[in-house]
Amino acid sequence: MSPFQITRTLPEDATDAALRADVLQGLTTTPKTLPPKWFYDAHGSELFEQITELQEYYPTRAEREILRDRAGEIAAAARARTLVELGSGSSEKTRHLLDALTGLHTYVPVDVSDSALTQAGQALVAERPGLAVHALIADFTGDLALPDTPGPRLLAFLGGTIGNLLPAERADFLGSLRALLAPGDALLLGTDLVKDERVLVRAYDDAAGVTAAFNKNVLTVVNRELGADFDPAAFDHVALWDPRDEWIEMRLRSRTGQTVKIPALDLAVDFAAGEELRTEVSAKFREEGVRAELAHAGLELTHWWTDRAGRFALSLSTVR
Ligand code: SAH
Ligand code: AVI
Repeated sequence: MSPFQITRTLPEDATDAALRADVLQGLTTTPKTLPPKWFYDAHGSELFEQITELQEYYPTRAEREILRDRAGEIAAAARARTLVELGSGSSEKTRHLLDALTGLHTYVPVDVSDSALTQAGQALVAERPGLAVHALIADFTGDLALPDTPGPRLLAFLGGTIGNLLPAERADFLGSLRALLAPGDALLLGTDLVKDERVLVRAYDDAAGVTAAFNKNVLTVVNRELGADFDPAAFDHVALWDPRDEWIEMRLRSRTGQTVKIPALDLAVDFAAGEELRTEVSAKFREEGVRAELAHAGLELTHWWTDRAGRFALSLSTVR
C-alpha cells in the first residue's frame, strides 16, 4: 500500500442523491430542517477551522488540553495498531494521539469533506514517513467498510461531533460503532459538557460572525449543487440554548416572507417572515448520560477525563 491512499466509499452521484433527499425532506416539513453534514464543502471546512481559533469557541482548546495531557494514558490503555477517526477534519488534535501510539501501523481518517481529508492526509504522510494513511471519504452514519488493517483498533470520534446527531440517531450510530469493534478494540469519544448558558451561546454566536458565515454556508451549498436561489443575506443566524434537551440549536431565520426556487428538485419553498430553518443541534452531555448511552450500545466506559476547567470530556470505552 502506498503511504497515502484515499478511497471514496460513495460515488458522487450517491452524495448528490443524498443531498436531494435531505433537502426535499427537510424543506417540505414543518419546522424546516437540514442535516449539519452539508455545511462541510471546502469553504465550510475552512470556516470550521476558523471557528476552532475563536476566543469564544472553547471546545477545541479544551479537548486539545485533554489530549495533550492524557495521550500517554489513552495509548497505554488502547495499544492500538490502527487508529480510525470519524469526522477527522484537519486531524490537527489527532497528532497528540499519533505521537503517543508508538506501535501504530495505519491511520484511517473518515470524513465527508474531500478537501479536509486530502490536505490532512498529505500533511501527515509528509510529517510521518513510517505511517500508512488510508483516508475514507464516507458518511459515518452509513455502513462503514473499514480497510483490513491490523488490530487492536482505536476508534476516535472527537470534537463533540456526536452531539450533532439527534438522540435516536446517536443510539443507532453507537450501535453500529459497537458492531465495528472486536474484543480488545476501544472507542475514544469527545463530548462537550453542559455549562453556563451564556458561555454556550457565545460559542455559537461569535462577535466576528464566523459561525454565522458557517451556518449560512449550507445555503450556498444548496445553491451550487441544486441550482437554488437562496440569498444568504435574507436570513439571520440564530443560536439558542434548549434547556430541556440540553442542546444548542443553530437556525437560519428568514428576514422577510420569500419564496426560494430549487430547480433540481422542481420545488419552490415558501418562508414566512421570521420563519426558522434548523441547521444543527449541538448536544451537551453529563457523565452519567454518556455512560448510559454507551452501555445501551454494549460499550463500557472505563476512563473519563476532562480539561481542568471541566468544560469538555474524553471517554474511553471497551467492548463489553
Ligand atoms: N474532528 C475535528 C473536526 C470536527 S468538525 C475536530 O474535532 O476539530 C466535524 C467534521 O465531521 C467535519 O470535518 C465534517 O466534514 C465531518 N462530518 C460531519 N458529518 C459527517 C458525516 N455524516 N460523515 C462523515 N463526516 C462528517
Ligand atoms: C463539529 N461540531 C462538533 C461543531 C459543534 O460545536 O457542534 C460544529 C459547529 N457548529 C457551530 N460551531 C461549530
